[in-house]
Amino acid sequence: MAIAVYPGSFDPVTLGHQDIIERSSKIMDKVIVGVLKNNSKSPLFSVEERVNMLKSVAGHLPNVEIQAFDGLLVDFVHKCRGDVIVRGLRAITDFEYELQMSQTNRVIAPGVDTIFLTTNLKYSYLSSSIVKEIAMYHGDISAFVHPVIADKITEKMSP
Ligand code: PNS
Repeated sequence: MAIAVYPGSFDPVTLGHQDIIERSSKIMDKVIVGVLKNNSKSPLFSVEERVNMLKSVAGHLPNVEIQAFDGLLVDFVHKCRGDVIVRGLRAITDFEYELQMSQTNRVIAPGVDTIFLTTNLKYSYLSSSIVKEIAMYHGDISAFVHPVIADKITEKMSP
């Protein structure tokens, strides 16, 4: 059974993330979405909120699980008995960071490989940070996130 771990901050989950989850769930037997708890980026949403938001948009997929994790990603992968890490690649600007992470992970945990899915072109410019910035200025985020997530962001940002 091939198990993939798809890690990230998911602050919040975007349609680009959802696309990667759905596509990887068709390739792998099981996909565990790992939501990083202690993030240096000081997230807008708590880890519980991020996990629940992911459950609301991806919980219907029978071979997808959502879990929070802390510490090293490779330790989480071992704990989950994962075979590979999945990451989305949007553009060449992602490549250097992603290469550094995947090479480092393989040095500290030989055997843990990373596979990359190129994002759907529709979402190749999309990031959680951009979504939050647009929402902060009351812009329309309906093309970027699921309606349930758009409501959560609006709620979080209202005074
Ligand atoms: O969605 P993000 O913020 O790009 O995801 C980054 C993430 C969570 C994959 C990365 O920060 C991570 O793996 N953090 C866990 C700590 C760790 O293992 N660091 C070493 C990776 S080289």
